[in-house]
Amino acid sequence: EKGGYDHFMLKEIYEQPRAILDTFRGRMLSNEGIIRMAGVDDNIEKFLNANRILIVACGTSWHAGLVAEYVFENLTRIPVEVEYASEFRYRNPVITENDVVIAISQSGETADTLAAIKLAKSKGAFVFGVCNVVGSSISRETDAGAYTHAGPEIGVASTKAFTTQITVLTLIALKLAQKKGTVSTSEFHTYLSEMDAIPAKVEKTLKSDNHVKTISNIYKDATNFLYLGRGYNFPVALEGALKLKEISYIHAEGYPAAEMKHGPIALIDEQMPVVVIATRKGHYDKVVSNIQEIKSRKGKIIAVVMQGDKTIKKIADYVIEIPETLELLTPLLTTIPLQLLSYYIAVMRDCNVDQPRNLAKSVTVE
Ligand code: M6R
Repeated sequence: EKGGYDHFMLKEIYEQPRAILDTFRGRMLSNEGIIRMAGVDDNIEKFLNANRILIVACGTSWHAGLVAEYVFENLTRIPVEVEYASEFRYRNPVITENDVVIAISQSGETADTLAAIKLAKSKGAFVFGVCNVVGSSISRETDAGAYTHAGPEIGVASTKAFTTQITVLTLIALKLAQKKGTVSTSEFHTYLSEMDAIPAKVEKTLKSDNHVKTISNIYKDATNFLYLGRGYNFPVALEGALKLKEISYIHAEGYPAAEMKHGPIALIDEQMPVVVIATRKGHYDKVVSNIQEIKSRKGKIIAVVMQGDKTIKKIADYVIEIPETLELLTPLLTTIPLQLLSYYIAVMRDCNVDQPRNLAKSVTVE
């Protein structure tokens, strides 16, 4: 059942090229320049006339929502807000029939997300679900939706659900951008052909496996980790930190790189490994100077960079390369080595990777 892998988590990490392909296959016809998604097509006016899009989710799905916020606003110019479902539902939020609410949930059973949906519906909002489990409560409770086609995710730590959620949300944003004319036809085609290339690039990124394992062995005894990223990769930093906490029980924090100087820099010493996502197109120079600040305080740098990077190679302790792609699509690649890092560290610390202590696959309690 684990297909020759030691754990479901590793199997699921390795399934990502296929899962992402399955998620866009049949929906994205890149040669024709068409994105077809029944749930969006049937409700296109609701999306196009939306005052704003409000995304509700928990945990890793909330991180996918944060990536989507940047993607939607950049491509469609529709204002987006992302909320923890548990906060949204209890705080008397402003919500009207002109809002589109997108609920993201792998299991489709998360109690807080389900309650947030019910609240949004009661205020007249149109609610769209992005779920992985077919026929789940959330998929039934929403007005329309689009499934991620990740296949069953057994490991408690979410991996392929995250990358396929980002895939679905990016397809929706691209479709709306095409309709609204907020991206040019040629840009649109570039996005589609780059998305087409993602499964092969994830495959290539997975080849860093052994290298990540070596790095894991060096830092497995650390008691704290920092994860930094900017732009589209800020949520990836949060997700990397969550993954490490969840399965290896090492305390980790994710931050937008520029926030470091507003506090967390005080934590940096020779004991602190800092994982920095530094793709060449994402405010690269700023991230380089963040790395220098960490180095001058003796912190250890593990950098995720784009292939061919020379600058960061010189200053980081370790670099992990991802293939070149459009900045907006980099989260689909940068996430992969962070999943592997948390996986190997957890294995080396003898943790129960697939069933970490105190956690359940779906959180159906409030
Ligand atoms: O099934 P959901 O996507 O609604 O679950 C949300 C969170 O409980 C979930 O992402 C959790 O944070 C994972 N264990 C993260 O790996």
